This record gives sequence, C-alpha cells and structure tokens, in this order.
Amino acid sequence: MTQPGRTRQTDVYLRGLGGERPLVPTRLDALEAAARQAMTPEAWAYVAGGAGQGSTMRANRDAFERWRIVPRVLRDVSSRDLSVELFGTTLPSPILLGPVGVLEMMHRDADLAVARAARAERVPMIFSNQASVPMERTAQALGDSPRWFQLYWGTSNALVANFVRRAEGCGCSAIVVTLDTTMLGWRTQDLDLAFLPFLRGQGIAQYTSDPVFRAEAAKHPASPTASPRVGPALIGALFDLFAASRRAGMSFGEMRSAVAHFTATYSRPSLQWSDLALLRSMTKLPIVLKGVQHPDDARRAIDAGVDGIVVSNHGGRQIDGAVGSLDALAVVSDAVGTRLPILFDSGVRSGMDVFKALALGATAVLLGRSYVYGLAIAGEAGVREVLRNVTAELDLTLGLAGQRSVRHLDRSVLTCE
Ligand code: FNR
Repeated sequence: MTQPGRTRQTDVYLRGLGGERPLVPTRLDALEAAARQAMTPEAWAYVAGGAGQGSTMRANRDAFERWRIVPRVLRDVSSRDLSVELFGTTLPSPILLGPVGVLEMMHRDADLAVARAARAERVPMIFSNQASVPMERTAQALGDSPRWFQLYWGTSNALVANFVRRAEGCGCSAIVVTLDTTMLGWRTQDLDLAFLPFLRGQGIAQYTSDPVFRAEAAKHPASPTASPRVGPALIGALFDLFAASRRAGMSFGEMRSAVAHFTATYSRPSLQWSDLALLRSMTKLPIVLKGVQHPDDARRAIDAGVDGIVVSNHGGRQIDGAVGSLDALAVVSDAVGTRLPILFDSGVRSGMDVFKALALGATAVLLGRSYVYGLAIAGEAGVREVLRNVTAELDLTLGLAGQRSVRHLDRSVLTCE
C-alpha cells in the first residue's frame, strides 16, 4: 500500500538538501499570499471573493475549527487505505477537483493545466459549465482519467440536452447539477471592481463551442442595457472580447451576440424539483445535486431518485450569512445516513479538513480555491503539488489519529467545541 504522506515529506526534505523549496506553500496564509501575487486584482477578487461581507466564507472555515480530531493510540497504523467507492468505481483517494469556471483568469493553460495535473495524480476532474476551454479539448488532455460534467441549467432545455450529450461523448461518468446559482450572488469584491469575466467573453467556452447555443444566439441577439463610457478601459474590454472571439473561432460580432445571449439566458430561477425528471430522461449517468445544505432537501433528493449530493454553499460565493458548510454536512448526513452518497465542499484547504468531512459523513470532497491557488502560482505543477500536499496530510492525519482506512471514519473520531 502506498504512503503518500511519508513519500511527499521525504521528497520535500531531500530536495531541501539541494536548496529547493516546494513550488507551492503548504501553509494556507502563504499559499493565498503567493496566489494573490500571481494574479491580477480582478482575478484575485473573482477567486478569493465571496458573497456580501464574506461571513459565509468565514463560517465555512470556523466550522472546520470547531470540529476537532480526537486521536487514538497503539492501533498499528503502518498500513493505511485512502481509497473510496463512488458510483461503482474505486477512487485512489477521496478527493476530486471541483468545477471552477474562468480558469483563464488564473493561468493561461487554464482547464488544460488542471486536466494534466488530474491525470498525473489520478484524481477525477469535474468540468465546469463555465470553463475556459471546451470540454472536448479538456477531455483529450485527460487521456483515460476520470471526469464528470457540472451543469448550470439555463433557460434552454435544448442546450441542456446538448451539454449532457457532449459530456457523455467526452466520457464523463456523472452529471453534477449546481442548484445554488439560479442567479449570481451579490459578490462585493467583483462589484467594487465592476468586473464580470463573462462580459469579456471569458468562461463561456462550453457555450461558444456548442452548435445549439450558437444557433440560438444567432436567432435572438440580445442588446446590452447600459452603455459603458468610451475610453481606455472600454478598449481593453473590447480587446478581451476580440481575443475571446479568436479563440472561439467566431467573428467579433458573433462573440458580442454570444455574450449578450449568454447573459440573457444562463440562469433559471424558476427551476424546481419536478424539472429533474427531464434531466433524468436525458441521461443514464449518475445525477449529483450540488448545493444541498438542508436535511429536507437531502431527503427530497433521495425521493427524486438522484444518485448523490454535494453538500456545498459554493464556497460562500452565493449567500452571505449562511451556515458553515461543514455544519450543514453533519445535519444532512444524520438525515441521509448511507442511503445516498454525500460529497462535500466549501472551505476544504488541507488533508486535515478532508479527514473531518469524511468523519462527518462525506464519501469524498471537492477541492475548489485551494487547487486554483496552485494553478495561479505554477500552472499544472502547482495543481499537482496542492493535490500531493492535501493527500499527504490526509494520509498522515489518518495514521496519527489511529485510523487505518478513510472508509471507516465516523463521528467518533471528532468532538465539537
Ligand atoms: C467556483 N465554483 C463553481 N461551482 C460550480 O458548480 N460551477 C462553476 O463554474 C464554479 N465556478 C467557480 C469559480 C470560482 C473562482 C470559485 C472559487 C468557485 C464553486 C466550487 O465548485 C466549489 O463549490 C467552491 O469553490 C468550494 O469552496 P472553496 O473550498 O473553494 O472555498
């Protein structure tokens, strides 16, 4: 059995003899500082920012602080198992790369760098609906490594059906429907910089590469409601839009229509439980609902026949003043038990965090900002280091807590302060 903890530590310390330091800091504050330095202020605001005054983001981290590990001793932890079962497949570790949009803001290789890192580290990648690279290209970069597709359900069911069809064609083994973003949250850091990447043609590659979307955009060109002031900033924005049109193989006019049509159609606040039957009829793939926080919604998900849920509050980017996602996980897993696989995200930054989420009932966790910070600092190599660091710390935490398998973790290894 592999020992990712010892292997990673040894690698770092031996390289240190030659004066090398890790590419990506292992301490969270240093990781954030290095990522911030590597990004434009707009990119940093987009990644690190949250809804309102950031209180949900703080609640996410506070919840991890309150749940504490109670170690056990003298239990032979020489051999440890990080593997888990999910939808009939065995994953080498309980970690997936969660869907994060507009990665071109963080690094020029964007989704392709993440795919290469996922492949090298044998970690599943979830394609974002708001990716910077069409899913077909990212799928190629992944080789035969596992991948899922995350769906935002906009106003066009025909487009949803085509996204699902393309995801199946790309070898995705699950569809993750994100339910907490029926509208964009009130994101103060982005508002104060007056910056939304989609208006510059960024993060809409799944749309501009889609024939159904392109046909719909050509039929219904929408017009913007405000006229920006003419000046250097507008020239910069138009340049971004022009660059996006070149990448998408569109004319500038087509890209303008695409952006306007996307803005008018990407969200669907009317979405309700009964709509899930339509998605079910579109695919035989496992359907996973992302954004569940309430136990009644988790029970409803079971009744609706979905295959899994992600307990997530979108990293505190949607509602301010919400419950910490780890606290929601405890309540949801009480309600669901083992009837439905639970995945978890929002606030996971370390292997210790993964350990706590699994102990509270998650089968696996999604990383979000943490791998994006690695991407910003060092591209593919940065994402790989983050994955290796988190996995290493999980392995060490497991053993040092007197546990041998992540599958057997339960609440008895924790206490809540
Ligand atoms: C996200 N997230 C997200 N979720 C999703 O379903 N589709 C998406 O396109 C995106 N895009 C996105 C962009 C950025 C910049 C961030 C930071 C997050 C949410 C993501 O999947 C996950 O739920 C959160 O990132 C988890 O919170 P932490 O761990 O990053 O704090």
